Amino acid sequence: MNRWRRHLGWALFVVGISTLHILSLPQSNAQEDQNFDRLTAEDRQALQKRFAKELWPLLTRHERDGCVGCHAGAKIVSALRMTGDIDKDFPMLIKQGFFIPDDAGSLLGRMLDKDPKRIMPPPAKDPKFKRPHWTAKELALLRAFVIDLDKRQKK
Ligand code: HEC
Repeated sequence: MNRWRRHLGWALFVVGISTLHILSLPQSNAQEDQNFDRLTAEDRQALQKRFAKELWPLLTRHERDGCVGCHAGAKIVSALRMTGDIDKDFPMLIKQGFFIPDDAGSLLGRMLDKDPKRIMPPPAKDPKFKRPHWTAKELALLRAFVIDLDKRQKK
């Protein structure tokens, strides 16, 4: 009987250690390190050219009330950290998944969000001031870009 107890003890010990091991895997880091960029260099370059022409001017307008103006600011607390340098920001946006289609955390997803706590740009503290939102036409440009970029991703 005692011998069986000892076996059971060992079995539980092994299961326990394995569970601890699985739980201690750095799951959040894996997500942070995830790279959503599966484009060829040529496609990435062509897409950046188009992005520079069609979308960068929209993202960088309105100074601190605009996307890049606020997201490149020293004080912002957000996972979206921009620099204002398109050569750095464009590859980062692809890599970190900000162009993923139908994703609630993407650029487009956050601009379309109905929740006033999530919609971008966020409502200003002064209720008399409304930060400028993108027009339907501008949002359609971004949507078309997101779809085309996704088509070029190697599956
Ligand atoms: C005045 C400042 C401000 C402006 C302007 C602004 N944002 Fe934000 N944004 C924030 C803050 C603060 C957060 C983090 C809190 C949150 O998630 O709501 C955020 C979060 C985000 C996120 C989610 C990042 C993550 O954590 O995954 C996206 C995407 C985003 N913004 C896109 C935009 C876009 C696109 C615009 C322009 C249309 C914009 N933002 C304009 C302040 C701003």
